[in-house]
Amino acid sequence: MTMPFWIGTSWKMNKTLGEAADYCAALHDAELLRDPRLQGFVIPPFTALSEVCRALADTPVMVGAQNMHWAEQGAFTGEISPLMVRDCGADIVELGHSERRESFNETDAAINRKVKAALAQGLRPLICVGETAEEKALGAAADTVIRQCRIALGGVPVEALERVLIAYEPVWAIGEHGTPATAEDAGWMHRRIREALPTTAQGAPLPVLYGGSVNPDNCAELAALPEIAGLFIGRSAWRPEGLLRIAERALAARPGT
Ligand code: PGA
Repeated sequence: MTMPFWIGTSWKMNKTLGEAADYCAALHDAELLRDPRLQGFVIPPFTALSEVCRALADTPVMVGAQNMHWAEQGAFTGEISPLMVRDCGADIVELGHSERRESFNETDAAINRKVKAALAQGLRPLICVGETAEEKALGAAADTVIRQCRIALGGVPVEALERVLIAYEPVWAIGEHGTPATAEDAGWMHRRIREALPTTAQGAPLPVLYGGSVNPDNCAELAALPEIAGLFIGRSAWRPEGLLRIAERALAARPGT
């Protein structure tokens, strides 16, 4: 069975409840997202998480949180637990985004604790990995990314791996000042990651998505590579039309579709 192609967005620290509701209303009516060859997902800020889960509950679109603590509950002011994420109705939790690693000092060891906690709670961790421009210039890109993946997955039982998603997001490619990776570079790194990662208990490779300045112009060549299992989009999907345009073009470019 071919796996659906993942297409999703994190809104980062954007959107009020009203804006979130408008976005969900547009997705709700989009036939494209009901195509079984696609698996859409939206990752709103915590404030909109339960509303977005409710608004998209009768669609196949999955919803995720942007981060969480590893503990189930306790004296961790300002944090959100895996239990709370699940309680909102979310399926996915994004972990280890480079903005969290850089601005909030998140370490690989902390991400590993969060991955295990997410899996224990029945969530799908979407583990973000990626090298900085400096690591790339020094020739350490693949070593960095593979180390991040290995530490994030340390101690995860093989039966749980089928719920793990990886997003390769080179730090130099993300955001306003980012340069998107070429399909050639992204494909090369995706193959390195695939070689280094364990497979699921059924022998399937873990899905590795690409993220970092994905836009309507570059999505087709990225989606055309069989080793890229999906696209994780920021700015270009903050309007629903952007997400849908990318989904449409990616699906058309997907091998075997
Ligand atoms: P961008 O963000 O598409 O705006 O570069 C990607 C990300 O941070 O996941």
